[in-house]
Amino acid sequence: MNILTFRSNEELNEAGAGIITGLVQTNPRAVLGLATGGTPVGIYEEIVKTYRKGMVSFKSVTTFNLDEYVGIPEDHPESYHAYMKHHLFGHVDLSPERTHIPNGNAADLEQECAKYNQHLEDAKQIDLQLLGLGHNGHIGFNEPDHALVSGTHIVKLKDETREANARFFDSIDEVPTHALTMGVGTILKAKMILLVVRGADKAEIVHKALTGPITTECPASLLQTHPHVVVLLDTASGRLLNA
Ligand code: PGA
Repeated sequence: MNILTFRSNEELNEAGAGIITGLVQTNPRAVLGLATGGTPVGIYEEIVKTYRKGMVSFKSVTTFNLDEYVGIPEDHPESYHAYMKHHLFGHVDLSPERTHIPNGNAADLEQECAKYNQHLEDAKQIDLQLLGLGHNGHIGFNEPDHALVSGTHIVKLKDETREANARFFDSIDEVPTHALTMGVGTILKAKMILLVVRGADKAEIVHKALTGPITTECPASLLQTHPHVVVLLDTASGRLLNA
C-alpha cells in the first residue's frame, strides 16, 4: 500500500487527477471505476482542467460508478447521475454509452443489479477504482456488517451514512434509505485502487482501515489484501498514522 499525505487540498487534487489522467494518456481505452461524495469533487475539477488544456481525451474510456441511491429521480440534484454530469460527464468527451451508473429507479432492482454485474463482466476488469471512505469504513455503499456481498446489490443505508449525507439534502428525511452498490468483490478485482480521504473527522477510520484487523465490520480494511492500492490523504486525515 502506497500512502501519500498532502499538505494542501490543491496538491492532493492534482496528484489524484494526475494519476487518473496519466492512466488514460497511456491507456486511452482504460476502464475507470468512479466515486461520488464530497471527497472527489476537487479531483474531477482538476481532470476537467487537464481535459480543457487538450492534454487528455476520454472518448474511448469506459466508466462504472460505484453506487446510486434508490428512488430519487436521475435529475434530482443529489442523485449520483446528476452529480457525475455536473462534476465530470458534462465537461469531458466521455461517450454516454460507455458511462455506467446503476439505475436506482429500475422497476426490478434485482434485475438491475444483475445487468450491472453483466456490464462489469463484459468490461473484464476495472483498471483504476477511485474510492472515498465513509466514517464507518464503508467503501461504495458497502456498509459494515458480519458478511459482505461480492457483486452489485441493494443495500439499506446505515443511519450514520444517511446522517453524513444529510448535508447535501434539505433534511435527513429526504435522504434515501436504500442504494444500489457495487460489491466488495468487484472493487477488489480492480487492477489498481485509488483511495482518497480528507478531514480530521476521518483520521480514526483511516487508521483503523489501513492498520487495524481485516474485517467485514470495516469494509475498507479489506483493501489491505489488495496488491496495488494508492492512498491519498490530507495531513488531517492521516494524522494518526505513524503516530
Ligand atoms: P464523502 O463520502 O466523500 O462525502 O465524505 C465518502 C463516502 O461515504 O464514501
